[in-house]
Amino acid sequence: MAREQFGICAEPNLHGNYLLFNVLDDKNAFIRAAISRLPKLFDNYADQYSEANLIGVVAIGEAYWDEFYPQARPALLAPFPAMHNDDRVAPMNSYDIYIEIRSDRADVNHIVSTKVCQLLGDSVELTEQIQAFRFLDGRDLTGFVDGTENPKGLHRREVALVKDADDIQFAGGSYLHTQRYQHNLSLWNSLAEHEQEDVYGRTKLDNIEFDSADKALTAHTKRTSLKDEQGKSIEILRQSMPYGDMKRKGLFFVSYCHSPKPFELMLNSMIHGDGHGHCDHLLKYTEAETGSAFFAPSLTFLAQMVD
Ligand code: HEM
Repeated sequence: MAREQFGICAEPNLHGNYLLFNVLDDKNAFIRAAISRLPKLFDNYADQYSEANLIGVVAIGEAYWDEFYPQARPALLAPFPAMHNDDRVAPMNSYDIYIEIRSDRADVNHIVSTKVCQLLGDSVELTEQIQAFRFLDGRDLTGFVDGTENPKGLHRREVALVKDADDIQFAGGSYLHTQRYQHNLSLWNSLAEHEQEDVYGRTKLDNIEFDSADKALTAHTKRTSLKDEQGKSIEILRQSMPYGDMKRKGLFFVSYCHSPKPFELMLNSMIHGDGHGHCDHLLKYTEAETGSAFFAPSLTFLAQMVD
């Protein structure tokens, strides 16, 4: 199988820089060459600062893919599934290039981000940048541990990566969705702890899952824990991180998967609910301000594409 970009399945880090670019007209050949050089750049810095556990991921925006690589397109690549229902929204934004730089050192992320921007030069506009951080013991800013039910070990690759049999040219790649959520923490913090726990369907301090029968149908983990017709769990690999300053605080949500469908099904279940009025009550306390779909090709594809 093609070699994947190692950051996709990597374990969480302490700091993250997420850079979102749009490409200026007529720069596609330059961009292709620059993008194909990024994995080597990440490797060099990972060697230089080996204790920092640096990883980098590059992904191409859905709307830009056909300009980036007109010869072929990942089979399931589709626009971000924008939705809204009452006051629950999932808007769509279009970005051409996504770069994720994570490590355990904010200064190393800064050095690598600067190099990436120099490499892409004036062929791109940096449309959005998010500096994210690990909060306490891997918690979202709402105070709950995030990522506990993520796939583990080798199963991460099964969930996140396109298989040979599904799309041989794009095997080892991954469908990526991002959303920048902004939290209303003053409203959230006005809830009693047991009310917050009902919103997630887990306990806060010791992060224990409620028994299924005790979970509200509106609990976040109820709405996102889905099964297919054969009773098999529908899964994504989340690599989200909290971000924030003294004005805006929230979660940069990141989902990798072998198909875009699982994310769409989960988002639909959060926003439109189960058909009986049970939507995700977490969305009363946080709102998605952006939403984008990308494809993160394999290292093998990135190396071959400019030959
Ligand atoms: C579970 C936070 C958005 C999918 C969780 C958990 C937390 C959390 C604290 C429980 C622990 C865990 O298993 O990770 C958040 C926050 C969000 C957000 C703060 C937005 C601000 C989303 C979105 C999706 C999603 C947009 C997918 C469309 C999941 C899944 C689980 C989960 C699949 C595991 C459910 C289970 O099997 O128990 N989330 N989440 N989350 N979340 Fe989210």
